[in-house]
Amino acid sequence: MKPTTSPKTYKVKSFGCQMNVYDGERMAEMLGEQGIVPAPEGEDADLVVLNTCHIREKAAEKVYSDIGRISKAGAEAGKQPLIAVAGCVAQAEGEEIMARAPAVSMVVGPQAYHRLPEMLDKAVKGERATDTDMPAIAKFAALPERRRTAPASFLTVQEGCDKFCTYCVVPYTRGAEISRPYSDLVTEAKKLVDAGAKEITLLGQNVSAWSGENEKGHPVGLAGLIRDLAKVDGLARIRYTTSHPADMDDELIAAHGEIDKLMPFLHLPVQAGSDRVLKAMNRSHTAESYLKLLDGFRAARPDLALSGDFIVGFPGETDAEFEETLALVDEVGYAQAFSFKYSPRPGTPAATMDGQVPKVVMDERLQRLQAALNRDQLAFNKNTVGRGCEVLVERKGKHPGQWLGKSPWLQSVWFEGRAQIGDLVQVDLVEAGPNSLAGKLREAVAA
Ligand code: 5AD
Ligand code: SF4
Repeated sequence: MKPTTSPKTYKVKSFGCQMNVYDGERMAEMLGEQGIVPAPEGEDADLVVLNTCHIREKAAEKVYSDIGRISKAGAEAGKQPLIAVAGCVAQAEGEEIMARAPAVSMVVGPQAYHRLPEMLDKAVKGERATDTDMPAIAKFAALPERRRTAPASFLTVQEGCDKFCTYCVVPYTRGAEISRPYSDLVTEAKKLVDAGAKEITLLGQNVSAWSGENEKGHPVGLAGLIRDLAKVDGLARIRYTTSHPADMDDELIAAHGEIDKLMPFLHLPVQAGSDRVLKAMNRSHTAESYLKLLDGFRAARPDLALSGDFIVGFPGETDAEFEETLALVDEVGYAQAFSFKYSPRPGTPAATMDGQVPKVVMDERLQRLQAALNRDQLAFNKNTVGRGCEVLVERKGKHPGQWLGKSPWLQSVWFEGRAQIGDLVQVDLVEAGPNSLAGKLREAVAA
């Protein structure tokens, strides 16, 4: 590869989960420290970071088509950008990327991206570099301080997963469970608030497994961390995601009833409604134990909005077993949910299991499941019409004078009137669609 000049502009493109969004922001901050600025909207960047997702085959394949598209555009413009592949595809297929895509000069895994600046120095000299080491937690200490952020920010508190669900690549791409230290998290949360955050979502592949020691040296779990973060002045809302049913303890359930700043929303993936399928998935919960857990959360916080993840067509799933998933959906009444067709991932036990389900069957099941989930989402939204609630304004809406934000139940709400990004405003919910609600801004009452 030919030597090139140092990049002046960058673009970080994150795919997949919220943790990738967080990692993308941290990489952007690091590039900023190097004096590289974001490429203006619509313009080509000198450095493109593809922050990839490996969770399903479609997501993983996207990286190669993106690389092809970027190099083609570079060839047409007579100027090839530097390309870095980061994220979980980098971790899982680093060598393959280097072999398959000569246009890529850097491959950096999710635990190694703090070393991106060194790799960039090499890339500028025409050397290609791969770094997919997994040093425990070293990354965070090496990253620059948080100085800029959105009103609704992410904060990674935990990474990795020890659960080894048989379909999932995460334990391989993100490694073993690691909790970031308590004091680092309190510090980062305060910095985010100083930088303008009003809401923080605590992130982890298995966030409820977070554990640490508070400043007195006492062991604390996620509930204790949330309790202490709720004391941070200026922080108005706390959320967390994603949880595994096996790690939800009584303290966390109680926290939902006791901490006002903890929003009434819970994302708790169930994946399937059949106990046989759940066992084959190595999920360690049954449909019944999951429903019982939700009862506990709902008792603590009756207006809790529920969200989940589902996989249809896991190997061996029969029609009758799929019906059990639909029955569970009917029973729960989710406010929103994510659903996917099973995608065999190399190296995972389920990829070689007997009874792989034909695509047409998966298509049909997904359609039926999504119809049920969409029905419930609309019903949930309609149920909130007539209520007044606080909305955190996150951005301008499509039309002039329109604003878009989130309700406590994570619904998108738009309204018109005097407001600005970062405001927490009182809104009456007046009309519900499947994906958003219309609100009416309440006039501010003079103090
Ligand atoms: N195929 C389909 N969906 C998957 N997920 C994880 N692995 C796979 C796979 N191999 C889904 C699960 C998980 C969400 C993040 O992605 O539902 O909760
Ligand atoms: Fe994957 Fe299961 Fe861990 Fe979630 S809990 S990241 S689905 S292995």
